[in-house]
Amino acid sequence: MNVIYEKNCQSNICCYFCYSNNNKMKQHEIIICMGSSCFARGNKATLAKIKEYIAKHKIEDKVLFKGNRCFDKCGKGPNLMIDEKMFHQVNAENVETILDQFFSIFRIY
Ligand code: FES
Repeated sequence: MNVIYEKNCQSNICCYFCYSNNNKMKQHEIIICMGSSCFARGNKATLAKIKEYIAKHKIEDKVLFKGNRCFDKCGKGPNLMIDEKMFHQVNAENVETILDQFFSIFRIY
């Protein structure tokens, strides 16, 4: 898996600072890029996987899942953003691992 983290984060591991800041949020936000480049390279299948994941873990009330037109990072896509953290090269095969790693920190299910 080749996932690159960015946006105010110096490491690939969520630290206490991230945890405490993000934990103040009532609802986690997942935004999938529905721009033509990301969509054509697999975000349609990734979208379905995320919907399955949310239903499987019964976290509908804790997650706001929505689409975005383009993050202007098409070359790094397909892209996904979770609580303002951008993930690149996301696909239907690695998205569950990304969600598991992200949400296990918050123990929301
Ligand atoms: S289409 Fe996804 S970042 Fe541009």
